[in-house]
Amino acid sequence: MRVLTTLTALVGVLENAFAANSTFYNPILPGWHSDPSCAQVNGTFYCVTSTFIAFPGLPVYASKDLINWKLASHAWSRESQLPGLSWGTVEQQQGMYAATLRYHEGTFYVICEYLGVPGGIRGVLFKTTDPFTDSWSDPVLFKPTKIDPDLFFDDDGTVYSATQTILLQTLNINTGELGEATNPWNGTGGVWPEGPHIYKKDGYYYLLIAEGGTAEDHAVTMARAKVSDGIEGPYTPYEKNPVLTARGTDAYFQTVGHADLFQDTKGNWWGVALATRTGPEHEIYPMGRETVLFPVTWEEGEYPIASTVRGKMSGWELPPPKRDLPGDGPFVSDPDEYDFPTLSALPRNLMYWRVPASKAFAISRQGLEVVPSRNNLTGVMGDVELNGQSGLSFIGRRQEHTEFNYSVDVTAPKSEGTEAGVTVFLTQFNHLDLGVMRTKSGLSLRFRAEAQSVSVPVPATKSIPLPKPWVNGTIRLEIQAGNRTHYSFSASRVGDNGKVIKGSRQDVAVASAALVSGGTGTFVGTLVGVYATCEGAGKGASCPAGTGQAYFNRWRYQGEAQAISATETVPSK
Ligand SMILES: *[C@@H]1O[C@H](CO)[C@@H](O)[C@H](O)[C@H]1NC(C)=O
Ligand SMILES: *[C@@H]1O[C@H](CO)[C@@H](O)[C@H](O)[C@H]1NC(C)=O
Ligand SMILES: *[C@@H]1O[C@H](CO)[C@@H](O)[C@H](O)[C@H]1NC(C)=O
Ligand SMILES: *[C@@H]1O[C@H](CO)[C@@H](O)[C@H](O)[C@H]1NC(C)=O
Ligand SMILES: *[C@@H]1O[C@H](CO)[C@@H](O)[C@H](O)[C@H]1NC(C)=O
Ligand SMILES: *[C@@H]1O[C@H](CO)[C@@H](O)[C@H](O)[C@H]1NC(C)=O
Ligand SMILES: *[C@@H]1O[C@H](CO)[C@@H](O)[C@H](O)[C@H]1NC(C)=O
Repeated sequence: MRVLTTLTALVGVLENAFAANSTFYNPILPGWHSDPSCAQVNGTFYCVTSTFIAFPGLPVYASKDLINWKLASHAWSRESQLPGLSWGTVEQQQGMYAATLRYHEGTFYVICEYLGVPGGIRGVLFKTTDPFTDSWSDPVLFKPTKIDPDLFFDDDGTVYSATQTILLQTLNINTGELGEATNPWNGTGGVWPEGPHIYKKDGYYYLLIAEGGTAEDHAVTMARAKVSDGIEGPYTPYEKNPVLTARGTDAYFQTVGHADLFQDTKGNWWGVALATRTGPEHEIYPMGRETVLFPVTWEEGEYPIASTVRGKMSGWELPPPKRDLPGDGPFVSDPDEYDFPTLSALPRNLMYWRVPASKAFAISRQGLEVVPSRNNLTGVMGDVELNGQSGLSFIGRRQEHTEFNYSVDVTAPKSEGTEAGVTVFLTQFNHLDLGVMRTKSGLSLRFRAEAQSVSVPVPATKSIPLPKPWVNGTIRLEIQAGNRTHYSFSASRVGDNGKVIKGSRQDVAVASAALVSGGTGTFVGTLVGVYATCEGAGKGASCPAGTGQAYFNRWRYQGEAQAISATETVPSK
C-alpha cells in the first residue's frame, strides 16, 4: 500500500512536470458564498459556506473539476434539527456563521456555530455518510465561547476544534464535550484572529487563520509548531506573513481572506477564500463575499505559497470538466427555469429568511402558492408579531451574476390590501421591491426601496395605477441588471397564451446596486425572489381571514455576465 502510494505520488510529480497549467475564472462560487471550507474525497471536492439566518442553511456543494459546482445538500434543512432557534433569532446577521467541512473514516462532518439566541453561542456538529441528500444528522451540540470552529482529526484519534482569538480545544464528536482551551497563537496583530484551520504536514502542525476583519484589511496568516512539540505549540509565525491578502491594493477582488487548503488527487494543493468584487472603492458589491479558488504550491517542510486572487487565474492543471454527480440540486450559475405546476418539490437552491411559517409555501395547480405574511419584507422591529421572526413570506435565490435577468409571473392579488411582488433582497432593511397591489381603486404597481446605512439617496416610492385590462390577469415582473451598477424593474401584461402582450411593458424604476451593498448586510449578499404580504392588516403573524394566497409562475433566472476586473466581463462585451 505504502509503495503504491509513493509510486502514485511519483507519477503525479512527473505528470505535473509536463502538464499544461489551466486557466479559470473567479469566483468559483459566485454570489453570497462566504467563509468557504472544502475537502476532497475520492476525487470529488466538497465545500460548505455561511448562510447566517437564511434557511435551509449551510449549503454543501460538490464538484469533480473545481469549476462546475452542484448543490448537493444543506447541513441544516429541517427545523427539527434545531427546534425554535430560527424563530428566536432577531438580528439580520446572526445564525449560522463560518463552518468547517471535513471527511473522516467514511463520515462527512460540518461543524458550525449558531449565534444570536439567548443562552449564548450554540456549537453544532452535523454528520452524514451521504452528502448528496439532506440526510445530515441532528447536530451534536457543544458550548464554545468563540466563533469559527475548525475540526481537526489527529492521527492518534484525538479531535480538536480551534476557534476565534485563537483557542484550541479537544472536542468529543459524539457528546460535544470540549476540553480545556489553550491559546496557541494570536495572529500577527490584525483584529479578529479567526477562521482557523489546522493541517499536519511534514512533521509540523500548520495553523492557518484569518485576521484584520472580513473587510479591506482581511488577510490569511500562518504559524507552525513541530509535531514533536505537540499541537498546542509553541507556534512560530511565518516570517513572510500574510500568506494571502488584497489589503492595500487596488485589486478588483478585495477582502480576500478566510481561507482553507486542500489537495486534488494528483497531490496538488488548492485554496479557497472569500473575496468581494468591489474594487478599492467599496461602493457597489451587492453579491457580498463570494468564494474564490487559488492554486497553492506547498513544498516539503515549507510554508504554502498562494497565488494572488484575480478574476482570471492560472495554475495547476484542473481535473477534466465533469458534471456526473448524484443528487437533484442545480449547478451553481445554471439558469433557473421553474414552472411550478410541473415541479413536485421546491427547487433546492431557493431559500427563506429564517424558517418559514408552516404551510406558507406550496406548489399548487395555480403555481407556487404563497400565504402572505402580515409583516412586509421590512416588518416592524421591536414587534415580535410583525418583525418577520415567525415567518416572512419571501423565497429567493442568490444573485450569482453581475448581470442577469430575473422574471416571474404573478397572478393579480384578489383581495384588497394584498401585495405580491419581486425583490432584490439583502436584509429586511436593504431591499428593492416591485409589487402588484390590490387597492380600493384597483390594481397598481408599486416600487419601493428600503435602504438603511447606505451613502446613496434612497429613491422615493412609486405607484403606477394599472389600466382595467390588467385587473384579473397575469403580470410578468422583471428585474434586470444590465450593468454592474444598476437594477431596472419592469412589468408586462401576459396574455392567455403565456406571452407578453405587445406594448404592455411598463418600465417602473431604476435603482442603484449601492442600495443593497453593505448597509445592514455586510456579511450577506443579495437574493432575488418573490414575496407576498397584507401589509400589517390582521393579527399576530397572520393576515385577515379570507386574504387569499398569492400565486407565482414561470420563474426564470438567467446569468448574463460576470465582472472579473474593473473593466472586463465574461463573456466580454
Ligand atoms: C471512497 O472510496 C473508498 C474506496 O473505494 C470507499 O470505501 C469510500 O466509501 C469512498 N467514500 C466516498 C465518500 O465516496
Ligand atoms: C495572546 O494575547 C493575550 C492577551 O494579550 C496574551 O495573554 C496571550 O499570552 C497571547 N497568546 C500568545 C500565544 O501569544
Ligand atoms: C503552474 O501552476 C503552478 C501553481 O500555480 C505554478 O507553481 C507553476 O509555476 C505553473 N507552471 C507554469 C509552467 O506556469
Ligand atoms: C435578458 O435581457 C437582455 C437585455 O435586455 C436580453 O437580450 C435577453 O434576451 C434577456 N434574457 C432573458 C432570459 O430574459
Ligand atoms: C375580474 O374578476 C371579477 C370576479 O373574479 C369580476 O367580477 C370582474 O368583472 C373582473 N374584472 C375584469 C376587468 O375583468
Ligand atoms: C446601468 O444601467 C442603468 C439601467 O439600465 C442605466 O440607467 C445606467 O445609466 C447604466 N449605467 C451605465 C454606466 O451604463
Ligand atoms: C412595512 O409595514 C410597516 C407597517 O406594518 C410600514 O410602516 C412600513 O412602511 C412598511 N414598509 C415597507 C417597505 O413595506
